Amino acid sequence: MKHFLPTAICLALITSVIAAETNTSSELVLSIDLKAPMKPFAPTYAGLMTEEINHSYDGGLYGELIRNRAFRDNETKAEAWSLSVPSNAVACMVLTNIFPFTDKLPSSLQVQILKVESNAPVSVANEGYWGIPIRPDTSYKVSFWAFGNYAWGSPKFNDKYEGTNPPLPIFRSPLTVSLQSADRLKVYASAETPALTPEWQKIELTLKTGHDVVPSKENQLVISAAVPGVFNINLVSLFPPTYKDRPNGTRPDLMEKLAGLHPKFLRFPGGNYVQGDNLWEHFDWKQMRGPLEFRPGHVSCWHYHSTDGFGLLEFMGWCEDLGMEPVLAVFAGYSLRQQHVAPGPLLEPYVQDALDEIEYLTGDSKASYWGALRAKDGHPEPFKLKYIEIGNEDYFDLSHSYEGRFAQFHDAIKAKYPDIQLIATARVKNRKADVVDDHFYRNPESFVKDFHHYDQMDRNGPKIFVGEWATIGLSSMSKQKKTDETPSSSQALGDAAWMCAMERNADLIIMQCYAPLLVNVNPGASQWRPNLIGYDALSSFVSPAWHAQALFNSHRGDALVVSELKGESSDPEKQLCYSVTKDTAKGLLYLKLVNVQAAPRELKINLGEGVSVDSHAETLTLHSENPDQLNSLEHPDAVVPVKGTISNASSSFTVTVPATSLMVMTLKLK
Ligand code: AHR
Repeated sequence: MKHFLPTAICLALITSVIAAETNTSSELVLSIDLKAPMKPFAPTYAGLMTEEINHSYDGGLYGELIRNRAFRDNETKAEAWSLSVPSNAVACMVLTNIFPFTDKLPSSLQVQILKVESNAPVSVANEGYWGIPIRPDTSYKVSFWAFGNYAWGSPKFNDKYEGTNPPLPIFRSPLTVSLQSADRLKVYASAETPALTPEWQKIELTLKTGHDVVPSKENQLVISAAVPGVFNINLVSLFPPTYKDRPNGTRPDLMEKLAGLHPKFLRFPGGNYVQGDNLWEHFDWKQMRGPLEFRPGHVSCWHYHSTDGFGLLEFMGWCEDLGMEPVLAVFAGYSLRQQHVAPGPLLEPYVQDALDEIEYLTGDSKASYWGALRAKDGHPEPFKLKYIEIGNEDYFDLSHSYEGRFAQFHDAIKAKYPDIQLIATARVKNRKADVVDDHFYRNPESFVKDFHHYDQMDRNGPKIFVGEWATIGLSSMSKQKKTDETPSSSQALGDAAWMCAMERNADLIIMQCYAPLLVNVNPGASQWRPNLIGYDALSSFVSPAWHAQALFNSHRGDALVVSELKGESSDPEKQLCYSVTKDTAKGLLYLKLVNVQAAPRELKINLGEGVSVDSHAETLTLHSENPDQLNSLEHPDAVVPVKGTISNASSSFTVTVPATSLMVMTLKLK
């Protein structure tokens, strides 16, 4: 006799069996093995990469507030400068190189005043980089070069005013320098120069703003004259207080945001900036040192003129200020446009430039020519230099000349500096690079999917420097069409997944840094999206991706702990990414958990038998309901980490990792 169970009961039984199996197999378990040998992090593990892009230095980190200070931005037009002529005055301004200031900065601005009333001066004004920041109780250092001229030398002027009677006097009067609002209704501070002389003369003044000044950026620097005559100006500079008061230094708010990342090294001049768009536009360090009067500047590969006021020693000062190890990139005969210099005699001058550069930075100030020059430039103490990168992204070089170029640099540098570690920017066969620089720009899902990228990589080859990485595309959850200037919350999660992937390979990866770092968010100022930190002339903000990095860098410790996740679903684009590290001295265990899924995930954490931890643990969670959420100048704290606690930590416990979040948990080992 056959026994039939009612269909509904059968279905219910089958469903419950499947459910039971599914539950068991999908239980997500992170096993942490504290008894297995741990892998130490290199002291240089996390750092910064920097290049002149998006007005990173000029109009960014470099403290200079005057745009086109030496009239090099445009040969025929005094960009960022304007002339103001009151109704009863007659005057003009022209660019001229008839009275070169130096051979490197030959053009100057000539102001010709035929007629002016003493109570209504003629003036020229500089608008700065999308404004000039004015703050209360602040001292601004002004400097420029000027001389009082004859009226001759400008055909335009002479044609117009020939035969003027009496002839235009030679200009020997003082000028007035002031900080004013762009509409000229407010004068924040003002000072008078000494009388001009017939030779170029350096003028230095301090302008101090009052206590009641409201911070603003719609301002200008104004240089005015109330007597007729002709005068020329050049290298006009305005500096607010800089980070640690360094002369020719950096912008404090940006430096503080960089310091918040706890960087251990600086890769500079990073990226395409070292290469130049064309070979002749490469980073030529010899033109980027010494007095500003002799730095010609150059057109950088992102198509705007770089003053190079932020030059080689300024990069080293930046390293000193933030306690970072310099990772110096040298030009290796290859440009962004894929032009190359053939290895052999044609490459030799560039190899020599690199040797000179190393000697300039590390040479004894008494025994070496270049070391003595460094001392003269203001830094008698030699720097320590351990890493040199040969070129940038030479894997794009279709001519395959990098093998030869790298070998030539390698042999010359190692012969003189055997302890320097050389970083190759492509895999090379005929020499052993100490380190290879890999770059990754990907969308969030692809970073998650590639979580195991370095897990199986050969441990006997060169060490890895992930010298540029960033989530650049949008997440599949995004409702946007294009990326913004700074990363969104879902892009920060892509970064977090990738940071887990890198941390888990700390025995192989000795350095890693995000790129690009900085962006001036004014329309037209940027060339790349997204970038970690945004700013205008007055304010700055950090992106959700900055917070992700800061969380990783302040919760790392000194060693990577072996861990393994079991029970993960089969979709690699949605897997939970994780990394476990330890601060041995403090007895802290850091868990980083990245959940890119739209639902929370239960995770069982097994610390193994005999391991005991405080039941209370701190969590910091970075999350936004909106995958496209940004931070901005107007809303700098839209996405920030939120503190929490759990109270059930033990040798085996369960946590909920919230949807679309990075969670960092700190366990205290007992
Ligand atoms: O960081 C932006 C650019 O991306 C870098 O200059 C270059 O190295 C990379 O291709």
